[in-house]
Amino acid sequence: MDREVVWFIRQSIIYFLLGTLLGLVFLFVPDAASQDRIALHVHMNLIGWMSMMIFGVGYHILPRFSGRPVFSRKMMTVQFWLASAGMAGMTAGWLLRSFAVPAGNGILLAFGTLMYISITLFVYNMLRTVKGA
Ligand code: HEM
Ligand code: HEM
Repeated sequence: MDREVVWFIRQSIIYFLLGTLLGLVFLFVPDAASQDRIALHVHMNLIGWMSMMIFGVGYHILPRFSGRPVFSRKMMTVQFWLASAGMAGMTAGWLLRSFAVPAGNGILLAFGTLMYISITLFVYNMLRTVKGA
């Protein structure tokens, strides 16, 4: 397995633990479930856990389906770091916003944009990898 695949899988499992823990907190402390914290729970689970797992498994499986290596290994490395920074920053942004810290909004915009750039790199790399397979 490429090291980025392992890192994606490890990271994804950590977000699964954190994201579901936050859901559990909502059950025990219903007042904790503000709009920003629900958004944080949703994205820790749907980007942190589900999308990170799909990135990792996608990089491993799709080249094997198409019978050729991943189109750009360098792009895969860059995408890993952008997605990791993006999700960490989005987590910080939503958390800060949920405590009414003004910087939270700018952080969310900046790191949400990084996450989106990482998604476009994944999409391009995978489309080129499976092209003509
Ligand atoms: C132990 C596991 C989990 C617990 C205890 C939990 C708990 C909760 C709670 C209490 C809410 C509602 C918050 C509120 O409206 O007051 C919620 C919302 C939500 N959760 Fe979870 N959750 C868990 C795992 C997950 C996972 C694994 C995912 C996705 C893969 C997920 C996706 C969502 C989504 C999308 C919403 C928002 C639903 C809406 O739009 O109203 N949750 N969760
Ligand atoms: C660049 C990536 C993304 C950004 C910047 C982003 C941003 C947002 C924002 C700002 C909201 C509104 C939150 C609020 O209620 O205040 C939202 C809602 C939501 N997003 Fe995302 N999102 C991204 C990716 C995704 C992905 C990949 C999924 C699913 C796989 C997803 C699922 C959802 C869901 C289910 C809601 C509704 C949450 C709720 O019930 O409150 N998002 N997103």
